[in-house]
Amino acid sequence: MRTLTGIQPSGTLHIGNYFGAMRPAIDAQSRGDCFYFIADYHSMTSLFDPAQRRTNTLGVALDWLAAGLDPKRCVFWRQSDVPEVAELMWLLGTLTPMALLERAHSYKDKLAKGIAPNFGLFAYPVLMAADILLYDTNVVPVGRDQKQHVEMTRDMAIKFNLAYGETFVVPESEIRDEIAVVPGLDGQKMSKSYGNTIDIFGEEKATRKKIMGIVMDSRTPAEPKPDADRNIAIQLLKLVAPAEVATDYENRLRAGGLGYGDLKKALFEHYWNYFAAARARRAELAANMDYVHQVLRDGAQRARVVADGVLARARTASGLR
Ligand code: ADP
Ligand code: TRP
Repeated sequence: MRTLTGIQPSGTLHIGNYFGAMRPAIDAQSRGDCFYFIADYHSMTSLFDPAQRRTNTLGVALDWLAAGLDPKRCVFWRQSDVPEVAELMWLLGTLTPMALLERAHSYKDKLAKGIAPNFGLFAYPVLMAADILLYDTNVVPVGRDQKQHVEMTRDMAIKFNLAYGETFVVPESEIRDEIAVVPGLDGQKMSKSYGNTIDIFGEEKATRKKIMGIVMDSRTPAEPKPDADRNIAIQLLKLVAPAEVATDYENRLRAGGLGYGDLKKALFEHYWNYFAAARARRAELAANMDYVHQVLRDGAQRARVVADGVLARARTASGLR
C-alpha cells in the first residue's frame, strides 16, 4: 500500500502544521510505503520570488528531516526533480473538462479573494492529479481543503482508464478529521494567515514573548476556574508536555491558586524542550547542506524509477507509443 502526499514549500511551519500534518506523516513511515515530495511546481502559482522559493524549499526539507522524516524509510524528493509529472499533467489535462476545474473550491476561493488567476492556478488540480497518479498511489492523506482535489484525481484516473484501458491506480483520500485543530495564540485555529502561530523552530526570545503575551481573562490566580480545559495554554500544554504534567496544571488551574503567568511560563518551557532534539538536528543538518541535497537527489532517483514505469504505461495506452 503506497501513501503519497505533497508538502507546500510555504515558509515557516507552526506547531499546528506539526501536530496536524507532519507528526501523522512521520508516524506513517512505519506502516508501509511512503512517498513525500516538496511541491515546488505548485508554489509557482502564487509565489513569484525565485530566491524565496529556493529558501523555502530547502527550509521545508530541513524542517521535515529534523522532525523525523527518515530517508531510509520513505522516498523524499523535490517535485521538479521528476519533471515527467508535467508530461502526465498534459495527458490528464486533455481528458479534464473545463467545467470540472471551474468547480474547484480552492480556485473559486482565490478568485473571490480577487487574485488574478493564471493558467497554472486553474490547472493546479491537474498537476496534483499527475503527482498522485504518476506513483501508483493508493492513499493520499490531506487536510479537508484538499479532499475535492483528490476526488478530481479519481475522476481523471477513471476517465483515462475508460478511454485508453486500465492504466492508473484509483487513489483514496484520507482526511485527518480525528486530529484536533490546534488553537492559535488568540484561540482561533492556528494558521499562518491569522498571524497567531507558534513556530516549530522559532527563535527562543521571540517565542517566549509570544507565549507570555497570550491574552487571558482578569480573574485572580486564587479564583477557581471551572473552564480550565478551555484555556489555550492548557490545550497547548497537552500537546507538548507529558500527560500527567498537563493534567496536573489543568487541575491546579481549575481548583484556583495557579496564576496565568506561571502557566504560560510552564508552557514555554515544555514547548522548548519538546522540540529541543529536532532543533539540534535541524542546526546540524543546516550546517551540512550537501547531505540534504544528496537526500533529495537520491529520493528523486527512487521516485523516477516508479514514475518512468507508470508514464510508459500511459504513453503506450494513449497511443503516443
Ligand atoms: P495554514 O493554515 O497555516 O496556512 P496549511 O493550510 O498550509 O496551514 O496547512 C498545512 C497542513 O497543516 C494541513 O494538512 C493542515 O491540515 C495542517 N494544519 C494547519 N493548521 C493546523 C491546525 N491549527 N491544527 C491542526 N492541523 C493544522
Ligand atoms: N495541494 C496540496 C496542498 O496545498 C499539496 C499537494 C500538491 C499535494 N500535490 C499533492 C498533496 C499531491 C497530496 C498529493 O496541501
